[in-house]
Amino acid sequence: MSKNNQQQNNSDKLWDGRFNQPTDAFVEAFTASVSFDRRLYRHDIMGSKAHAEMLAKVGVLTTQECQTIIQGLDAIADDIEAGHFEWSTKLEDVHMNIEARLTDKIGDTGKKLHTGRSRNDQVATDIRLYLRDEIKAVIAETKRLQHGILQLAQAHAKTIMPGFTHLQTAQPVTFGHHLLAWNEMLVRDVARFQDCLSRVNIMPLGAAALAGTSYPIDRAYTAELLGFDGITENSLDAVSDRDFVIEFVSAASILMMHLSRYSEELILWSSAQFNFVELSDSFCTGSSIMPQKKNPDVPELVRGKTGRVQGHLVSLLTLMKGQPLAYNKDNQEDKEPLFDTIDTIKSCLKVYADMMPNISVNRDSMRAAAAQGYSTATDLADYLVRKGIAFRDAHSVVGKSVAFGIEQQKDLSELTLTELQQFSDKISDDVFEVLTLEGSVAARNHIGGTAPEQVTAAVKRALKKI
Ligand code: ARG
Repeated sequence: MSKNNQQQNNSDKLWDGRFNQPTDAFVEAFTASVSFDRRLYRHDIMGSKAHAEMLAKVGVLTTQECQTIIQGLDAIADDIEAGHFEWSTKLEDVHMNIEARLTDKIGDTGKKLHTGRSRNDQVATDIRLYLRDEIKAVIAETKRLQHGILQLAQAHAKTIMPGFTHLQTAQPVTFGHHLLAWNEMLVRDVARFQDCLSRVNIMPLGAAALAGTSYPIDRAYTAELLGFDGITENSLDAVSDRDFVIEFVSAASILMMHLSRYSEELILWSSAQFNFVELSDSFCTGSSIMPQKKNPDVPELVRGKTGRVQGHLVSLLTLMKGQPLAYNKDNQEDKEPLFDTIDTIKSCLKVYADMMPNISVNRDSMRAAAAQGYSTATDLADYLVRKGIAFRDAHSVVGKSVAFGIEQQKDLSELTLTELQQFSDKISDDVFEVLTLEGSVAARNHIGGTAPEQVTAAVKRALKKI
């Protein structure tokens, strides 16, 4: 039976003019996105208001119609915020839920809002508006974490710990210097988010379904109302591009990789074997069976959550790789990975920023660990070079001294002058200054080096840059 001969098919759909049969109930649920894209409501309303104002400016809507639409949209925003809005799966997504409610509220004028646009450019605009705010929040939280790290670095400019390569004791470093390395990672993360923002903040609205619209729209005006830095150049690209989502999740994956590396170190350092730091009780949990346990669950979970963010990056790349231009429904799958990435990195940044000031540092254990493992061996080699020996020969002399120390179960600084002189007659009693941990770190006194003086100056520079 054709639709002309029957009553409406009882659907709430905004697009069912050409349909004779109702949507299969399961398909309705399967294709709907409102359960997750409703979080875009504020930005959807913001975009719709600007679109209506633009339509009024170019004479497609009357001023009165535009005002009615804006009042209706504001009332819907209030309803949603007050929890009075009933979201309907039948209406598929956030866009059609709001549009349908607008017409319920204000009558036929509501039906004019969608003039000259499509959900394809609408959703691309909404995600960009939403992500723009979230990037700003992520950057602010990253900076809060940087402050925590830098404060601890300042307090530990002189604290000596072993520096590692291959997780073997390499050379002594200051703990402040180690924390400054953490900060550098975040400096790059912030720069990546800022760079990403410059491409997020471009307006696709006006691309309509894919080809643009025949109405005399003023895209620059809408963009100005919405605070966009520019407008997209090509309508096909505008509705299909999700590079900006991939870029964001990629920057987020790198951030998580950094937090995961911090976590790995905190977990090692808070073990009884290292005993370098103690996380505050309020950031740890216990074991239900082993009463002595205090587990570093927070860093462990952050390390674990890194996997899901990196997984989202792969999901998004895979989502896009097979799509012909322009919009395809596949794109609806961009939201859950994006939203989960945002939630995950915000919570990980928050817990880290809160935890940093509550880390207590065990200076004695750090120092004792640095004193083991012949960490000043390179300083002895450098000393010999200053006495006129070629570095490669000095390396060999020190290697033999270390082998002797291992045999005698003594650190280099514990060997006597006579013992050391068996390996080179260039060694005299000024050697003991360079064999101390303090002498070793103080000697690395250049920009980027571990000397306490440099750490203090680097913290100051870093704070200024935030
Ligand atoms: N919910 C859709 C999405 O997230 C909105 C755009 C739908 N467009 C369409 N032509 N079906 O991508």
